[in-house]
Amino acid sequence: MEPIETYAVNYFNDFELSVVNEPIGDQLLLFDKITSNVQSEQFEIFKKIEKNAPFINAGSFSNQVHFQNAYQAPVQRWFPYREGYSTRLVNAFIKELKITGNIFDPFSGSGTTLLASRHNNLNSFGIDVNPISVLVAKAENESYSIIEINNLQDEIEKLKTVSRSKDVFQTSFDLADKVFNSEILQTLLQLKFHIKDIQNQKIQNLLFVAWLSIIGDVSNIKKEGNGIKYKNRKRTPSGYINIEKEVWEKQAFPEDKFNFVKTKLLKQLEIILLDIKSNYGLCEKQPIILQGSCLEFDNYFSDEIQFTFFSPPYCNCFDYFEIHKVDLWLGDFVKDKEEFRLLRNTGFRSNTNSLNHKPIIYKNEHLENLISLFDSEKLWNKRIPSVVRGYFDDTHTLLSKLYKQTVKGGNVGIVVGNSAYSGVIIPSDAIIADIAREIGFKVKNIFVTRHLTTSSQQKQELEPLKNYLRESIVLLEK
Ligand SMILES: C[S@@+](CC[C@H](N)C(=O)[O-])C[C@H]1O[C@@H](n2cnc3c(N)ncnc32)[C@H](O)[C@@H]1O
Repeated sequence: MEPIETYAVNYFNDFELSVVNEPIGDQLLLFDKITSNVQSEQFEIFKKIEKNAPFINAGSFSNQVHFQNAYQAPVQRWFPYREGYSTRLVNAFIKELKITGNIFDPFSGSGTTLLASRHNNLNSFGIDVNPISVLVAKAENESYSIIEINNLQDEIEKLKTVSRSKDVFQTSFDLADKVFNSEILQTLLQLKFHIKDIQNQKIQNLLFVAWLSIIGDVSNIKKEGNGIKYKNRKRTPSGYINIEKEVWEKQAFPEDKFNFVKTKLLKQLEIILLDIKSNYGLCEKQPIILQGSCLEFDNYFSDEIQFTFFSPPYCNCFDYFEIHKVDLWLGDFVKDKEEFRLLRNTGFRSNTNSLNHKPIIYKNEHLENLISLFDSEKLWNKRIPSVVRGYFDDTHTLLSKLYKQTVKGGNVGIVVGNSAYSGVIIPSDAIIADIAREIGFKVKNIFVTRHLTTSSQQKQELEPLKNYLRESIVLLEK
């Protein structure tokens, strides 16, 4: 297994990039394919937004903007954070831009930007609204002493000796009986109780991260698309079928559920121990990581920033709290529905659950023109125009604050995907670039890393414009 330091040496030289002189869609070909007024009106708006936009073909970044590679990467594999990207991507930018000052991630998630900053011996700070992200990012970015490594080893040995308790453990999570087999639930709760009793907080956190990371594997649900799905609900050519919970559980889990869960946890802890040992003495820089909204980051950090690198929630109604719902409840991060609702309200306005009656102050002409093309009959939620406006209002607030705190010549890199509603594409990358330009940033490049797909309902309608459905990295300079 490689220590993290050895894969931190690649940068832009390793990636194939080429300049795009025209807007990213092939215009002549496109014109032939356009069949409706809505499509041609969108196309005209895109041309205006993208006028002189410095697009770069960067297909070779495509494997770095998602978590695929990170599932196996040392340290990042401690918790499967589906929404994360790779440290290699961040390293490439740090090296290419010759960053030597402070680095910031306003949506730090599992802490990838911070991890890459540490590999480069740079100071960094991060903020995220989700307490699970903060816990994971902190555990992955701690330095562990020899004494602490021994302490972790001792706790692993102690855990091996734990046997099934006769006590009945409680949870406030009202869906727990549906989401888990009853014996598995009891085992998870007993192990959590055991972990919470560990005195050394850093070691307790490591065991708790391992515990959180196995929940998906031992539960009856999986994170998929924009939410959580029951594993016993199977898609067949003639529609969905539900396999009875007990029948499915019998097929899916072994007889000895207690040892099944405990072994998974121990396996995950062995990986964590191995990664900590292999990286001992490296990465001594300690990032600052806080729980809170990035829209208020300036209340916590007043230092000048040289480089901000992040991926915000996309404007696609994906709800980060929904996807982490089971972990949040079972891990006692939320205790009742009101706490869950309040937490949701702190999120960036990127989905219908995050709208918190904040007024919309910022207006963007191109965006308004696109929203006016929405077909209200086809929108699956009538609040979508508010989500889209709220999203770019929040983006404007964040970028304005970043501009103030960035050193002259400093950079901001934003990994973002475009989205579509009722056959109308919202080109977030180009709109963000437009907003940044208005604020005073120079738009250095928009790296187009890959093309995205959309829901099957919109697929046909968007066929001629599909090149605009892309995931990009917008690079800004002050
Ligand atoms: C795409 S993920 C970032 C993943 C991260 N780059 C990584 O590699 O792990 C977006 C993150 O934004 C967080 N988030 C949503 N609203 C936020 C807000 N208002 N302030 C800070 N973080 C927020 C979510 O909890 C989520 O972790």
